Amino acid sequence: MFFRKQVPATPWPQEEEHSKNKESPNRYFISRNIVLFLLFLSAWFLVLFGCFQPRSSTTKPRTYIPSHTAQEAHPNDVKTVTPILKCDGSVSVYVYSLPPEFNVGLLEDCHHLNVYTDMCPHVANCGLGQPLSNMGSTSWFFTHQFIAEMIFHARVENHQCRTLDPERANLFYVPFYGGLHVSSKFREPDLEARDALAVRLIDYLQAQPWWQKRQGKDHFLALGRTAWDFMRRDSGPDFGANSLLNLAPVQNMSVLTVERHPWKKGSNQHGIPYPSYFHPSTSDDLLTWQNNMMMSERPHLWSFIGGPRKGLEKAAIREKIIGQCTESTRCHLVKCGSGANQCYQPSEVLSVMRRSQFCLQAAGDSYTTRSTFDSVLAGCCTRCSFRPTRLIPQWYLP
Ligand SMILES: *[C@@H]1O[C@H](CO)[C@@H](O)[C@H](O)[C@H]1NC(C)=O
Repeated sequence: MFFRKQVPATPWPQEEEHSKNKESPNRYFISRNIVLFLLFLSAWFLVLFGCFQPRSSTTKPRTYIPSHTAQEAHPNDVKTVTPILKCDGSVSVYVYSLPPEFNVGLLEDCHHLNVYTDMCPHVANCGLGQPLSNMGSTSWFFTHQFIAEMIFHARVENHQCRTLDPERANLFYVPFYGGLHVSSKFREPDLEARDALAVRLIDYLQAQPWWQKRQGKDHFLALGRTAWDFMRRDSGPDFGANSLLNLAPVQNMSVLTVERHPWKKGSNQHGIPYPSYFHPSTSDDLLTWQNNMMMSERPHLWSFIGGPRKGLEKAAIREKIIGQCTESTRCHLVKCGSGANQCYQPSEVLSVMRRSQFCLQAAGDSYTTRSTFDSVLAGCCTRCSFRPTRLIPQWYLP
């Protein structure tokens, strides 16, 4: 949403059997997928929310301060996080203590973590970013869209199902900040250098006794960028991706990623939503927000927040949407361009969405957009124009 990388000129190659099945109209399939997708979203919301909910017990809450971002420290940096979910014992996660070059060490150079923007304000608060003061509660943060891996790391570390004893674990989390790293190397022309850290990570893992037990089948990564940022193709243009997810040992792992590769190559990938700006710490906060959204007056039938794009297909769709919205008295258009404008203000974006009945979504830089999740948060019915529309759940469901 904020700073874009280049857009691939060619779409994913569609696998034949896939396009045949899914492109043909099949109402049962579509509605089943929508139901699954909604279930999936609500489950994620519960999981994410649950991890931050305070627990009334005598356990001392764990307080953590992101020491690596001391220079951006904000009074709210000290966040008390206590998980509520009880662990039933069936899952026991061990969090690898990786050499710092794979995660927190990368943050030391946060000014250069992304070739388009300074990530220092965004990596504060364990990845939640800077607090948003104009949202009426302390649950709001200016959270960068590609930061899920940091938030996930912080949450797993505080999760009830975490074990400090690898002997007892049946799941191994590898907290690699692969998305932050890949975005610092988009312009690295030497492909070997671009892949070097990922290769070192896999070498490191393969040397671990816990890896060797099951050849990594019980290991997983969580990445804050889309799968195609880690799946460089030999043919076709180079968009800055590395080869992490193409490495053979990674095929044995499970990978959580925003926007999975929907076809065979992504069979070990699991889609996670883009992070929202809302990180409620109490159930009251959550209920208040839900009630506000349900009561919200929605004078606009539909709205579109976005700007024109380059590239044939995307440009045509966006141009049409923008044209029709301009002509319609029932549409609210927020046209995004370069430079500072309200498109980049979470409070502005959400305030338009919460006053609209339908929020149109066009493909962004990747095949789905963060804005899709923002509109769900704002209680706005999401209409997606990106193709293949019926496959949307495919980006997120196995
Ligand atoms: C993946 O796991 C299988 C066993 O389940 C093993 O035979 C294979 O060598 C592993 N692949 C890599 C690259 O480690």
